[in-house]
Amino acid sequence: MVNRRTLLTAAAALPLTGAASVWPTASSAAETSAKLGARGADPRYRLRLAETAIAPFGVTTEARLANGTWPGEPLRFTKGESFRVLVENAMAQPTTLHWHGLIVPNLQDGVPGLTQAPIVPGAALYYAFPLQQSGTYWYHSHVGLQLQQGLSGPLVIEDPDEPLSYDEDITVFLSDLLNQAPDQAMKALKSGGLPVTAETPYRLPNGEAFATDIPYDGLLLNGRPPNDPWIKAVKPGSRVRLRLINGSGSSYFRVALEGLPLLVVAADGEPVAPLEVDNLVIATGQRYDLLVTVPSGGSHRLHAAALGLDKQALGVLHASDSPAKSEPVRPTFDGRALDVSLLAAAGETTLPEGPQRRFEIVLSGDMQRYIWQMNGKSWPEADANFAGIAPDAVFHEITYGERVRLDLVNRTPMVHPMHLHGHVFRVLNEGRDPATAPLRDTVSVPPNGKVSIEFFADNPGQWFFHCHNAWHLAVGMAQAFRYMV
Ligand code: C2O
Ligand code: CU
Repeated sequence: MVNRRTLLTAAAALPLTGAASVWPTASSAAETSAKLGARGADPRYRLRLAETAIAPFGVTTEARLANGTWPGEPLRFTKGESFRVLVENAMAQPTTLHWHGLIVPNLQDGVPGLTQAPIVPGAALYYAFPLQQSGTYWYHSHVGLQLQQGLSGPLVIEDPDEPLSYDEDITVFLSDLLNQAPDQAMKALKSGGLPVTAETPYRLPNGEAFATDIPYDGLLLNGRPPNDPWIKAVKPGSRVRLRLINGSGSSYFRVALEGLPLLVVAADGEPVAPLEVDNLVIATGQRYDLLVTVPSGGSHRLHAAALGLDKQALGVLHASDSPAKSEPVRPTFDGRALDVSLLAAAGETTLPEGPQRRFEIVLSGDMQRYIWQMNGKSWPEADANFAGIAPDAVFHEITYGERVRLDLVNRTPMVHPMHLHGHVFRVLNEGRDPATAPLRDTVSVPPNGKVSIEFFADNPGQWFFHCHNAWHLAVGMAQAFRYMV
């Protein structure tokens, strides 16, 4: 049971984090508490995190769920409100929650040992801060492989001046599931790997094969397996906003809505110039907002096939005047695939003037020993008490007001979905009009490829930058940026 004495605010938790208290972000936490006091401190949501036995693919496995469902309870706010979520840890392990893609005060960011002490079993933590953005985000545990066990959920912020018009607002949350305990799978990875034996694996749109680490037992769409899929009926002729969230541990999905074009209107919560496609690849951690019109008499399978595996997640969207067709046929992905180099922001994204700083970030690894690194180093494993940060952790020191450019160089045959906390960045692909480089928080760096991004340093603190493949992150594929006001 959580009682009042165990309710800590992030500010109260700060002194436990050792080295973190050197950083002056306590002021923003104090600010947050002051605002909370002024607006009334009742949480809008309470998330109770607990171990739960589930069996979507016929084998009972231990999940970790927020309010008892996979994905966890959806959080919905309106821009301009305060984010106010009380997290109660009813699990036997410590945890934190991270609000993926949100620009938060550093102490609300949910990274154990870096921005907060973990929430110990039986304790609770109140996350609260002003919301600056709108769009499609998600939340997940940032401890160990808890995310792989379902500790995640949708997070949507509505815009009171929403420029898009649609009749239905629907969240589509994609996950991958492993029947065995993640620690056991990690042991296998470290002693030579797990056999991925897909007979006819789904490939990238250009026909290339896609390397994966984990032979998942199944894939879920809004928590449901393909043989008992999520089905949604809408009024004939409805315009639907689909908020597609890749909440997987490490799967990339190729997605299509049978027979209907997809109008891409946002990427990672940020509006893009509308772009019509027939299918797209969504990297781990990313989101796409899509507009589709469901004609009278239509039933359309929503296919989300995991690249490198021969499995798909499935949903069905149909007009209410037509029965749902839900047999899990194999998708062929004909037509136009989304080319991310054609994505442009809806407006100018040029950064404010400021001195520039540049880093080359080399992504490397060794599949045999299961080591994943950035600039030749792994982020050290947290000590049992999460007490502070190990001295060999890689921090990039930057300065408030700088434009920081990162050249991400992938020296491995695997993709890495790279995610920066506390900021959005511009993706600087060659050949694109730099004035409208799209904004994202997670970018996929192709095997042996290179991607450049830049962000403006205007949110002081210690910010994690890491691969969002849960298995790569678990063995330390991470660094941090830090700066003061
Ligand atoms: Cu979505 Cu550091 O995480
Ligand atoms: Cu990676």
